[in-house]
Amino acid sequence: MNSIADFLKKPQTILFIIGLFFVFTIGGIVTYNSAALLREGDYIFNAVNKKHSLGQYKPDDLVELAELGAPGKHIRITAYSRLKSLMESAADDGVNLKILSAYRSYREQQSLHAYYETNYEGADRFSAEAGHSEHQLGAAIDFGSADQNTNLRQSFANTAEGLWLSGNAWRYGFVLSYPDGKEDVTGYMYEPWHFRFIGVEASDRFRTSGLSLLEYLNLAPQYFDKESLRGELIQVRGSVEVYFVTGNGYKRHIPSPEVFYSYRNEWDRIIFVDPDTSNEIPETKLIRLNADEKVFFTNEDGVKSWISSADEFNKSGYDWGSVSLVNKTEFDFYKIVEDEAAGLNQESSSSANGMNVSSESVLLEVPFAAQAPFGNWEDPRQQNGCEEASAIMAMKWVNRDTILPLDSAMNSIIEISEYEQRVYGEYRDTSAADTISRIFNDHFEYYKVRLAKNIRAKDIIRELKSGNLVVVPANGQKLKNPFFTLPGPIEHMLVIIGYDSKTGEFITNDPGTRHGKNFRYKSQVLEDALQDYPTGFHEPIENINKVMIVVER
Ligand code: DAL
Ligand code: ZN
Repeated sequence: MNSIADFLKKPQTILFIIGLFFVFTIGGIVTYNSAALLREGDYIFNAVNKKHSLGQYKPDDLVELAELGAPGKHIRITAYSRLKSLMESAADDGVNLKILSAYRSYREQQSLHAYYETNYEGADRFSAEAGHSEHQLGAAIDFGSADQNTNLRQSFANTAEGLWLSGNAWRYGFVLSYPDGKEDVTGYMYEPWHFRFIGVEASDRFRTSGLSLLEYLNLAPQYFDKESLRGELIQVRGSVEVYFVTGNGYKRHIPSPEVFYSYRNEWDRIIFVDPDTSNEIPETKLIRLNADEKVFFTNEDGVKSWISSADEFNKSGYDWGSVSLVNKTEFDFYKIVEDEAAGLNQESSSSANGMNVSSESVLLEVPFAAQAPFGNWEDPRQQNGCEEASAIMAMKWVNRDTILPLDSAMNSIIEISEYEQRVYGEYRDTSAADTISRIFNDHFEYYKVRLAKNIRAKDIIRELKSGNLVVVPANGQKLKNPFFTLPGPIEHMLVIIGYDSKTGEFITNDPGTRHGKNFRYKSQVLEDALQDYPTGFHEPIENINKVMIVVER
C-alpha cells in the first residue's frame, strides 16, 4: 500500500478502523467535531487541519506560477519568491521538480474531496474536507517528478526529487506537512510530496523541533502580537520541567520556547514540575491569554484575576515577576510596580533627585532588563550580555527613564555587542575597566563613570548613599542565585540599586535572570562574590580584584 490509489482500492481495513479510533479519541489533537473557524491573520502560521477550518477564506494576493511551469496554478506572493528559488536551485542540482497542485479554492477542494469520497475508501486519510486544506491557504504545494509513476505516491520519497526536497525544502521555508508515522497526530497518511510554506526562519526552528508540522503550528497565534508572548516561563526555571495541560487533562512536556509558542493558544494551564520528584511545583503562576487578548493572572493562592489595563495592573500591587505574558499594548504602558520599594519608601523621604533616602536604607529607581529578555539564551550576545544589560540599566537611570521595554532592552544588548565586536573584536566578557571605556564612554558617550578598586561592601553602601549607582563584576557562582542555570556564570556583572539596612541586604538589578529585578543578596555574600575578570572569553582569572563601577549623574 504505497500509493493513494493502491490504498483506496482496498476495502476498509482493521488498521483503518484503529486509525479512526485514534483520530476521534486518543489523539486528542485531531477531531472531526468542533471545527473552529479561523480568522484572517498571519496565515503563515495558521494550523489548518481537521479541527481548524478556514471557512470560505480566500487569500487576496495569489500569483500565477506560469513561470515555474504551472500555468493556471497559484500561490501567495509571500511564498512565491522562495518557491522560485527552491525550484531554481533544485534545477541547478539536476533535480527537475514539477508543481502538481498549489492553491485550491474552497469549491475546488469540495469537489475534489467529494470525488475521492465517492470513489475511494478512506478518503479522509489523504484528502481534506473543503475549508480544511492547507492548499486553500495558498501556501501548500504538491511536488512531483518527471516520473509520473511516483507522483502522489509514497514512492516519491525515494526519487531524486523527493530526496532533494526532504533535504533542502526547509532552506526555502517549505516543510513537510504529513510525515511518515504521524497520522495519529496530523490526521493524514504520509505525503512526501506535500509541502507547506511557513517562512525560512520558522522552517529552521521547526526542522530541529522534532515535531510534526501540525504539532508545531497547532493553534498558532495568528491573532496575537508575537512580541507580546515570551518564553520566560520556560527559560528561567533552570532544571525545572515545564508542561502544559490541556482542558481535557492531557499533559505535554514543553522542551523549548518554540514548542511553548506553538501551543500557546491551546494551553489551558502551564505547570512546572520538579524533575527529581515529578511533583508539581506549587508556587507556579498560571497565565493564559483569553480570546480577547487580555492578560490572565493567578497568584500563589489560586486567586485568578484578569488584568484589563496597565492601570489596573499597577493598582493591583501584583509583583511584575508573577506575570509572564502581557498584551503588547499593556506592556508598552506598563510601569514598574515597586513592591519592594513601597516597603522601603514608608520609612524614606523622597529627595529632589528622585532618590529615596532614609537614615540607613537606599533605593534608586532603576528599570530592569534581563540580559536575555525573551529567554534567548542560545544567542551568544545575550548569553554574554550581562555587562551590556547592566550598562543599559545604568544609562536609563542616568537619563531618569523608568521604562525599559523588553524588546528595546534586547535590541540594545545586541546593538552594543555588535558595536564592541566591530570596534574591539570582542563582546563576550568585558572587564570593569573596559565596560567603562568601551560601553559607557565610547558607546554611550557618558563619562561620569569611574572605577574604584579594592572595595568592600561598605564602599558600595557609601556610594549608594551619595546618590550614585554601582555596577559590579562578580563571580556569579558565588552569588548562588537560585534562578541561575547551575553552576552559574563565573564572569558576571550586575547593578546595585540599593541597600536595606534592616536586613543587611543589597538590592540589585541582576540581569542574569528575569527574576533579577530588586533581587536581594546578603551584603556578605555579594562582597565575597566580588571579582573582576579579564576582557575576552572565560580567560583565566589570576587575582581576585574586588572593584566597582560608580555611575554618577
Ligand atoms: N492532501 C491534503 C491533506 C489536502 O487535501 O489538503
Ligand atoms: Zn497537498
